[in-house]
Amino acid sequence: TTDQPTIYKGLAGVVVDKTAISKVVPETNSLTYRGYAVQELAQHCSFEQVAYLLWNGELPTDVQLADFSRRERANRRLDRTAASILAKVPETCHPMDVVRTAISFLGAEDPAAEDPSPQATQAKALRMLAVLPTIVAADMRRRRGLDPIAPHHGLGYSENFLTMVFGEVPDPVIVKAFEKSMVLYAEHSFNASTFAARVVTSTQSDMYSAVTAAIGALKGSLHGGANEAVMHDMIDIDRPERARDWLTAKLDAKEKVMGFGHRVYKNGDSRVPTMRQALQEVSAHVGEDKWMTIYAELEDEMFTRTGIKPNLDFPTGPAYFLMGFDIPAFTPVFVMSRITGWTAHIAEQAASNALIRPLSAYDGPAQRPILVR
Ligand code: SDX
Repeated sequence: TTDQPTIYKGLAGVVVDKTAISKVVPETNSLTYRGYAVQELAQHCSFEQVAYLLWNGELPTDVQLADFSRRERANRRLDRTAASILAKVPETCHPMDVVRTAISFLGAEDPAAEDPSPQATQAKALRMLAVLPTIVAADMRRRRGLDPIAPHHGLGYSENFLTMVFGEVPDPVIVKAFEKSMVLYAEHSFNASTFAARVVTSTQSDMYSAVTAAIGALKGSLHGGANEAVMHDMIDIDRPERARDWLTAKLDAKEKVMGFGHRVYKNGDSRVPTMRQALQEVSAHVGEDKWMTIYAELEDEMFTRTGIKPNLDFPTGPAYFLMGFDIPAFTPVFVMSRITGWTAHIAEQAASNALIRPLSAYDGPAQRPILVR
C-alpha cells in the first residue's frame, strides 16, 4: 500500500494522556503544580511543602506538614547492606549510575516492592525522597576521599542534605537558592524521564523499576545531564570576553549549545527567571561574578543569533558549582527533586492505566524467503 502513516518523531506535539499534576502553557510562559504558579511556590514554599502538594494535590496544613516532615526525617538513614553495596560501585562510573543502582537495590530489599496499593506507593515514594540525599551526599564525599556524614534529624530537608555534603549548614542565602532549585526541578509534565517511568508503570511493573528507568533517561545530556554539560562549557570558556567567540564557533560547527532550547517552550522556560535570580544571589554571596557574566554573554549572543533562550539547566549548572558541588553531582541532585514528580506520575498512571504501546512504520526489507542451500 502507498498509504504512509504520519510519524510523530520524538512524539513531538502528541498528547498521550491527561494529568492533574502540572500544567505547562508555553504561550503564556506558565508552569503550575496542582494549580499553583511555580515561581510563587519557589518564593513562598519549602521543598517539603511542594513534595506534599505534588503527591496529595493540596498544600499541607501545619499539622499535615509536621507529620510529613516527621516521616521524611525517620526515613533518611541508608541501611548497612545498601551502604556497603554502594561503597563497592566503582568510583570511575558516573554518580548517576550509583543513584540508579541504589534505587534498584532498595527495590530488591523492600518486601513491599510489588505492593501496588496507594498506601504502599506513598510509603515507597517517601522512602526514596528521604534517602536519596543520604545516597547522593555519601557518594560525593566518597569521591573526595571523605567519610559519609549521617543524616541529622533536627534539620530540614535542604539543610540536612547540604550538611551531609559539606559538613556544616551553609549560609541561609545558599540554602534558599538550593531550595528554589529543588522546587523548580520537582515536576514538568510528560518530560522524557517521567514518560519513561509511566511506560514502565503501564506494564504493571513495580515503582522502583519505574524510577530506575527514569534515572537512566534523566542522565542523558539532552535531558537532566545538561546542567553538568553547561558547567563544563563555562569552565571551557573560562573568561567572559571569550564567551561570544566560543558560541559562534559552536554554532558554526552546528553543535547544540547545552542549557538552551526546549521541546515545549519556544519562547523561554518559565522557571529560568527565578533560578537566574537565585544564581545572581549566590554569585553575590560568594563574591564571584565570572560565571554570571559568562551566563549573560551567552544568553545575549545566543538570543541574537538564534532566538533561542536558556532552559532551567542553564542557571542551575553555575549555581550548583558556586554552592560547592562537584559537577558530576548536579544531575543526581536533580533526581533528588524530580523523584517527587516521577512518583506522583507513577501513582497517577497506575490509577488510570492503559498499557503504553505505540506503533511504528516499518521501512526495512520487504518480506523474503530464507534461501536454504
Ligand atoms: C530538560 O522536557 C522537559 O520538560 C525537560 C526538562 C524537565 O524539566 O524535565 O525541562 C529538563 O531536559 C531541559 C533540556 C536540557 N537539554 C539541553 O539543554 C540540551 C540542548 N538543547 C537541545 O538539544 C534542544 O533544545 C532540546 C533537546 C532541549 C529540545 O530539542 P527538540 O525539541 O528536539 O528541538 P530540536 O533539537 O529539533 O531543535 C529545533 C531547532 C533546530 O534547528 P533547525 O534544525 O530547525 O534549524 O532549534 C535548534 C536546532 O538545531 N536548537 C538548537 C538548540 N536547541 C534547539 N541549536 C543550538 N543549540 C541548542 N541548544
